[in-house]
Amino acid sequence: MKKTIVLASDHGGFELKEGLKIYLAELGFKVKDAGTKSDKMVDYPVFIKKGVEQIIGKDNVGIFICGAGIGASIMANRHKGIRAALCHSVEYAQLARQHNDANVLCLGGRFLPIDDAKQIVNVFLGTPYLGGRYDDRNKMLDL
Ligand code: RB5
Repeated sequence: MKKTIVLASDHGGFELKEGLKIYLAELGFKVKDAGTKSDKMVDYPVFIKKGVEQIIGKDNVGIFICGAGIGASIMANRHKGIRAALCHSVEYAQLARQHNDANVLCLGGRFLPIDDAKQIVNVFLGTPYLGGRYDDRNKMLDL
């Protein structure tokens, strides 16, 4: 059973979110879209919070996108139980899963072409957490 993917963005991430929504559906994932619904200017904390609410206490994975990915990752990581990783390449995505057990992938919509984003998403969703010595460190994150 594939995980449900929760998408959230502001206006700066809207176009990439819409592209990834189609791609993820083609791959057979169930997708929940927490908004935003257009490229009209909005405040990213509002929509990242809506996305976070679909992750905490659930076994879902998030893909949160703003212009640079920075605001999305800051907002997401303010919530206990969220381990959000801003990834610029497939190498970042691999490490975010293997070492950090990241449950949210953050992307910069203004910097990433859709084909690069698809590759990052594939690696993020397909790479298992290594566990072991990383467990203690990850537990220390939940203050
Ligand atoms: C919005 O203009 C922009 O600040 C936002 O998308 C994001 O890049 C914040 O980190």
